[in-house]
Amino acid sequence: MKSLVPPGVYAPQEDTELLVGALSEEPVPPGADVLDVGTGSGALAVAAARRGARVTAVDVSRRAVCAARLNALRAGVPVRVRRGNLFAPVRGRSFDLILANPPYVPAPHGLPRGAARAWDAGGDGRLVLDRICREAPALLRPGGALLLVQSALSDPELTLGHLRAAGMKAAVTRRRRIAFGPVLRDREHWLRERGLLPPTENREELVVVRAELPV
Ligand SMILES: C[S@@+](CC[C@H](N)C(=O)[O-])C[C@H]1O[C@@H](n2cnc3c(N)ncnc32)[C@H](O)[C@@H]1O
Repeated sequence: MKSLVPPGVYAPQEDTELLVGALSEEPVPPGADVLDVGTGSGALAVAAARRGARVTAVDVSRRAVCAARLNALRAGVPVRVRRGNLFAPVRGRSFDLILANPPYVPAPHGLPRGAARAWDAGGDGRLVLDRICREAPALLRPGGALLLVQSALSDPELTLGHLRAAGMKAAVTRRRRIAFGPVLRDREHWLRERGLLPPTENREELVVVRAELPV
């Protein structure tokens, strides 16, 4: 069944699909505790719940929270959906797996507002990524894993470096090159001027980073 995506909620795209693919290769024992942070329409949360996980999903957007609840209901799987800023609604809890498709697009203007909060992430695209790298390791159980998707434009090497510095084993496990969507087409000139996009590059690379805490 196709997800319902109300206006203002991020419609599942290639990044969602890449992460769903990575999730399908991840061992998810029945009853494992999974967190989907920045759940949007709930596509990843529902995919994890279908595997028998106990899923909590968080989003800062009220509309996204409603959409994720509705889509979990329609799929007939239990997902606990909370509204809040990143990990704030799950403080004190721990997880076997954290999924994240955060905003990661470098943006020429200040703090993201409205629907753009789903993709804009400050001048270097790392506004939310850096917070995830800093805060996620403490929420994982020993042997737990973080799976996140981001653009090559927002420095996956830095993500790997931060996660390794936090004691995790981290690697890029999937890559996909995609055509520029409307957001990148709009700011292509700015990205090239800043040196974030090489002069002849006309595709965006998405990567999945997998990081695991030692047992
Ligand atoms: C790229 S969309 C991904 C949506 C969905 N997970 C998917 O893969 O289709 C990013 C989502 O993160 C949410 N978000 C952005 N900043 C957040 C924050 N600080 N805390 C919680 N959610 C946030 C946005 O509202 C948006 O729904």
